[in-house]
Amino acid sequence: MARKPLRSQRSYGKHDRDGFIHRSWIKGTGLPDHVFDGRPIIGVCNTWSELVTCQFHLRDLAEYVKRGVWEAGGVPIEFPAMSLPETQMRPTAMLFRNLLAMEVEESIRANPIDGVVLLGGCDKTTPGQLMGAASVDLPTMVVSSGPMLNGKWHGRDIGSGTDVWRFSEAVRAGEMSLTDFLSAESSMSRSHGTCNTMGTASTMASLMEALGVCLPNNAALPGVDSRRKTLAHLTGNRIVQLVKDDVRLSQILTREAFENAILMHAAIGGSTNAVVHLLALAGRVGIELSLEDFDRIGREVPLLVNLMPSGKYLMEEFCYAGGCPAVMKELGPLLRREAITVSGHTQGQIAEAAEVWNREVIGTREAPVGPSSGVWVLRGNLCPGGAILKPSAATPALLTHRGRAVVFEDIEDYHARIDDPDLPVDETSILVLKGCGPKGYPGMPEVGNMALPPKLLHRGVRDMVRISDARMSGTAYGTVILHVSPEAEAGGPLALVRNGDEIAFDGPSRTLDLLVDEAELARRRAEWEAARTPSQFDRGWYKLYIDTVLQADRGADLDFLVGKSSPDVTRESH
Ligand code: FES
Ligand code: MG
Repeated sequence: MARKPLRSQRSYGKHDRDGFIHRSWIKGTGLPDHVFDGRPIIGVCNTWSELVTCQFHLRDLAEYVKRGVWEAGGVPIEFPAMSLPETQMRPTAMLFRNLLAMEVEESIRANPIDGVVLLGGCDKTTPGQLMGAASVDLPTMVVSSGPMLNGKWHGRDIGSGTDVWRFSEAVRAGEMSLTDFLSAESSMSRSHGTCNTMGTASTMASLMEALGVCLPNNAALPGVDSRRKTLAHLTGNRIVQLVKDDVRLSQILTREAFENAILMHAAIGGSTNAVVHLLALAGRVGIELSLEDFDRIGREVPLLVNLMPSGKYLMEEFCYAGGCPAVMKELGPLLRREAITVSGHTQGQIAEAAEVWNREVIGTREAPVGPSSGVWVLRGNLCPGGAILKPSAATPALLTHRGRAVVFEDIEDYHARIDDPDLPVDETSILVLKGCGPKGYPGMPEVGNMALPPKLLHRGVRDMVRISDARMSGTAYGTVILHVSPEAEAGGPLALVRNGDEIAFDGPSRTLDLLVDEAELARRRAEWEAARTPSQFDRGWYKLYIDTVLQADRGADLDFLVGKSSPDVTRESH
């Protein structure tokens, strides 16, 4: 059967004025006549930037993808997309995830390309790029930038983020000098690549493997490992075949693929941020996925991977222990084995071929690293739209707790009062932070793991129950209840909490309740007003975002971006 001409031929295959325009101007980049004969044109979507060490080496890595594309008979064309440096952008890179998704979506749709390879790595780039690509639905593969080498400091390994939180609490508690603290900076991040803990970047890269949108071992190979270049080359080979076979992203991103991602997420003790990103991605491809799916499916899986922040090791050890394919092997019958992947193999076949090389790092279901973890999804009158908690990063004794609220109306209020020795707080109090949801901050920043009051740190307190509509870094830990939905700014019950209110958290029964009677809550609701939006948010991206962003339980996507539209564009440009 004759193959249907590729999408790019609608631009490059025409022998008229329009074909002349499309070909002539791209020939200006050095492409010869014969590459327009109908072979696959592969977009290489690159988030390289000097603002982000996590993706600093992607220009180099892109060359290996291109080699692979040329070798397989395709034509690679690289194009940029915004880089979203997690540690540099204010108020939070999350504010721009959906902007990247829009940029990627329309860059793919508008240009004459047949398939795309997404190069990203830092937390928000992986979901942002994939969400955008999913809304166009061409053959698509992911190459992640890979983790940094382990941090090395004072004779021991230190982990991205996780040890920043640890050290800064030690400084606040008077147990570490500022000189020591600052000396760890260059030892923590000592190569390019993404955070070396199981933070959001490594979590999302691992979920790319579980979703089946990249080649095996994409998540764990260090950014500087030569085998990552090989993986990039092989991805270039493979994307050409996917275009020839017309294997679109929607054929990979099935319900089973999302279930495998949830299983993987639980097994690795993954970042809470992945919940928001997977919900948003599912919304793009029309897969029914709910918050409760994370709790229900993840509950079957114990913690299998011993990495910070839930455990001890870092991504280098995870790589050398076998990485994600080895975890899938240990998932055994839980793995949705028939799920197909871009590699051409099913997940079952990939798991079958894997080995675990270090039992300290990757456990078994019979002898796991920790008990069933994943995420707990809480409901109650304080979070009718849900809230989440990562039990593997929490203090077991606090997983059932009743305490009085110490309320911070916004992040400025928190910063102004948390160090006050007269703050009426003790270790049984519950810290409540408002105004940090998608609309409130805006962008739902990673501030939910509020630093504790110094007067309690000095007494040896290292964890407290904390509740907010914010997110927290995937590298962070603590008994931190996050993503309370609806957020305070949208008028959720969180907005009504006052100092001294009693709050009951019961993790095992998954409830979170404000113990204030209905009549009193109704009275407070009648008095409540949303904070005035600062005028700098009255225009541009901020305005579009605040006006249209969905709550955390819908993945904080923009309401009009949910779903996908055809890759076809019928009208010509001239
Ligand atoms: Fe980019 Fe952690 S800051 S991956
Ligand atoms: Mg982060």
